Amino acid sequence: MPKSKASSRPPKSKPANGKLTEAQIAVHWKEEQYFYPTKEFKAQANLVDPAFVKKFSEKNFPKCFNVYANLLSWDKKWKKTLDTSKPPFWKWFVGGKLNASYNCVDRHLAEHKNKAAFIFVPEPENEPAQVLTYRELYIRVNETAAMLRDFCGLKAGDRVTIHMPMIPELPITMLACARLGVVHSVVFGGFSGEACGLRAADSGSRILIYADGYYRNGKWIDHKGNADVAIETAKKEGQRIDKVLVWRRYPGHTRTESPMVTGRDYIVEEVLRDYRGKIVEPVSLDAEAPLFLMYTSGTTGKPKGCQHRTGGYLAYAAGTSKFYQDLHPSDVYWCMADIGWITGHSYIVYGPLALAATSVLYEGVPQFPDAARPWRIAERLGVNIFHTSPTAIRMLRKAGADEPKKYNYSFKHMTTVGEPIEPEVWRWYYEVVGKNKAAIVDTWWQTETGGFLITTKPALDRMKPGSAGPAALGIFPVIWDENNKEVKAGQHAAGNICIRNPWPGIMQTIWGNPDRFVQQYYAKYCKNPKSKKWQDWPYFAGDGAMLSADGYYRILGRVDDVINVAGHRLGTKEIESACLSVPEIAEAAVVPVVDEIKGRVPEVYISIKPGMTPNKQVIDKVISTIETMIGKIARPKKIHVVPDMPKTRSGKIMRRVLAAISNRMHTGDITTLANPDIVEQIRELVQGRDATPLADGPEDIRLFGEQG
Ligand code: WTA
Repeated sequence: MPKSKASSRPPKSKPANGKLTEAQIAVHWKEEQYFYPTKEFKAQANLVDPAFVKKFSEKNFPKCFNVYANLLSWDKKWKKTLDTSKPPFWKWFVGGKLNASYNCVDRHLAEHKNKAAFIFVPEPENEPAQVLTYRELYIRVNETAAMLRDFCGLKAGDRVTIHMPMIPELPITMLACARLGVVHSVVFGGFSGEACGLRAADSGSRILIYADGYYRNGKWIDHKGNADVAIETAKKEGQRIDKVLVWRRYPGHTRTESPMVTGRDYIVEEVLRDYRGKIVEPVSLDAEAPLFLMYTSGTTGKPKGCQHRTGGYLAYAAGTSKFYQDLHPSDVYWCMADIGWITGHSYIVYGPLALAATSVLYEGVPQFPDAARPWRIAERLGVNIFHTSPTAIRMLRKAGADEPKKYNYSFKHMTTVGEPIEPEVWRWYYEVVGKNKAAIVDTWWQTETGGFLITTKPALDRMKPGSAGPAALGIFPVIWDENNKEVKAGQHAAGNICIRNPWPGIMQTIWGNPDRFVQQYYAKYCKNPKSKKWQDWPYFAGDGAMLSADGYYRILGRVDDVINVAGHRLGTKEIESACLSVPEIAEAAVVPVVDEIKGRVPEVYISIKPGMTPNKQVIDKVISTIETMIGKIARPKKIHVVPDMPKTRSGKIMRRVLAAISNRMHTGDITTLANPDIVEQIRELVQGRDATPLADGPEDIRLFGEQG
């Protein structure tokens, strides 16, 4: 484990009210040495001109973003770059018309029809990689769009829920939806059927799209059964599902134990026979037409559907892919994320395809069958741009620190995303994986933001391990404390990172819940709710951050009830509601625990209802309920049964205290609790009688549950 942030921090004095705020915490860490992009990288990079950067200065906002929009082909040019008449519901490229599927597929046929759009790498190593050229993608997207339109009766504005693994049919289906203006909502394949059903109901989908199964970690996962659960769940929520379309992982063979329900479930391959060679004109859509929903966890039990627009989103995904991913049509680019998360949407599908790049699609887990698999794939396919998360980097390093040296691949560029990366891990990525020459971008952004917000410009900026870097072009961040006071560069204090201006990639709203959209992201720092000026409506991201004297941001983690597990956002409230649905459970609290590989993992505290016994069956039931309601990714590391929860006098569970206990940190001031004695009892139960607190701990854990 790299040195924890805590160990380099001097002891702090206790704040008077016993409550810590971000801004009160002085955070000190060693300034890391800079690394510089190589001459070779600069010689070929897309963004090398400092004059270009100047175009994105604040005085040129919002027009500067026309540069991104100009990367796309428009059916009708926009009249106005940004409309702020109904804050914070911004409109981008107003009056413009375009189609995302046309931009990602059709327009590349003239020059690139025989070039690989996707290279699919199955997890079993004995299965050969499959190439999907732009021409073939075009044919398959068209046939699929014809099926969605004519067999399913879908039209622009309808929603469709796609619960699929990493197989080529996933982006094919997304692009087919986009062709029709149908709003896709992709649910990560690892989520449970129930989680899929809830999202399908929330979005009002009446069509579900599945795959029969897939390989993961050497095992065949029978996936189709989740559809049956999803349909039941959606029904309970009042949403009827008419059809389930099931793609086959292996053409010609259906591999699932789950029965196909006649008149409801259809094998796509069979339906498609009627649509062979059909061409569907891409529907010309308003720039503001929604392109997709992506559900993400927030501060309540219910996941929220982030709604992204067609024009602004695609322009932002294309622009950031070009300038920060340094994508050229000649590159072979591999982003190891899952398309079921925003990273996959923006940087496996929409961004790369808008630029006619070749995007690698890998079915499985990075370390299957061993920790050298990614390097073999890179060597074999000639991957030169690599994109992954700190969790994957930590895992690959732990399981095979010397493996990259044995393979003859050459990365010009690498990305890290999703969580803070420890400087030591960053250096291994740079020196060993990148062979001391690949430019690294540490990109900070969110499901809500559509694309990168903080990152270095790979050929222009120096790199600093552990710090994401300066703001992306046209993005103007600020850090504020809880009292609206700006935390300045070099102040060595943390605060809430906000973005002062709108940008084209920002979500439009939360599907079906505009009030929550305003409340969650804009209410906190809005200067004047009546104002129609964007300057009065900063975006609150929900992350703690600090700004170094050199203008580089270091992201510290979530300041709300969200835990970032292996780069994936999990709402603790969602896990808590799952626990509470077990009849024996009286109270539940979920807290983050530092994990060497995954960054953070959830631990669960439960108390049992009077008269019921806390036995192993109850604990097993809690685990299995979490897995059915959310999915295996939310499985807690430990479950502690406690006699009572530490509470404030108003009855609020003090999750911060439990988080401190789980992480063997100081519990801070507990004198204001209604039941301070319980803290020592729980501590003994969790840590053993003689344990002493080890550390002062990272900010997100110290402040856990205090905000949001
Ligand atoms: C965290 C993933 C540190 C952050 C793209 C954010 C990061 C949440 C970084 C969003 C980074 C993302 N360094 N932390 N480079 N990138 N995060 O919505 O806490 O799945 O709020 O989007 O991940 O997660 P999401």
